[in-house]
Amino acid sequence: MPGRNVILVGFMGAGKSVCGRMLAKRLGRCFVETDDMITAREGCSIPEIFARHGEARFRQLEAEAVDALALKSGDVVATGGGLPCRDGMMDRLRALGTVVWLRGDPLDLLERARRQGARPMLDGRSDDDVVALSRAREPIYRRAHLTIDTSGRTIDQVVADLVAAFRTEAVHAAKP
Ligand code: S3P
Repeated sequence: MPGRNVILVGFMGAGKSVCGRMLAKRLGRCFVETDDMITAREGCSIPEIFARHGEARFRQLEAEAVDALALKSGDVVATGGGLPCRDGMMDRLRALGTVVWLRGDPLDLLERARRQGARPMLDGRSDDDVVALSRAREPIYRRAHLTIDTSGRTIDQVVADLVAAFRTEAVHAAKP
């Protein structure tokens, strides 16, 4: 659907940034990340924001980033893993575009996110705690318009699934 944003949600390590960037290229759209909107505005990294001001301030900045998304149309947007999980945020995302959940096995996602680093929500949490956090978020992610399974799939395969899903959606949207 031209004009509608494509909004990727999912747990840390799900591949929202890498797949989102590639999807935007394939669809000829702009790519934006809510984490980048926040760090550009604050002039410091996400770990620094958590360390200096705490998680509550970061969540406030995420809500402000979603306010700014209202000005965008037709973009591909990668959201931070916790962004849809505050009250009312998933409803707001659904109103801004087609929301896609990149679902994956929690332990695989955790391993990838730990390897990449710079994830304050992983600091001081055991693997069990992180898996529990991911399970607690699943009912919210499940409210996405579309779910794409990333388990055992390469980035290229996931992006191909996304492109196919949007082609199908565009065909349905064009029907009278
Ligand atoms: C967070 C996920 C991060 C980032 C912040 C908090 C979370 O984004 O927004 O560290 O609460 O899950 P990614 O999902 O891109 O890692």
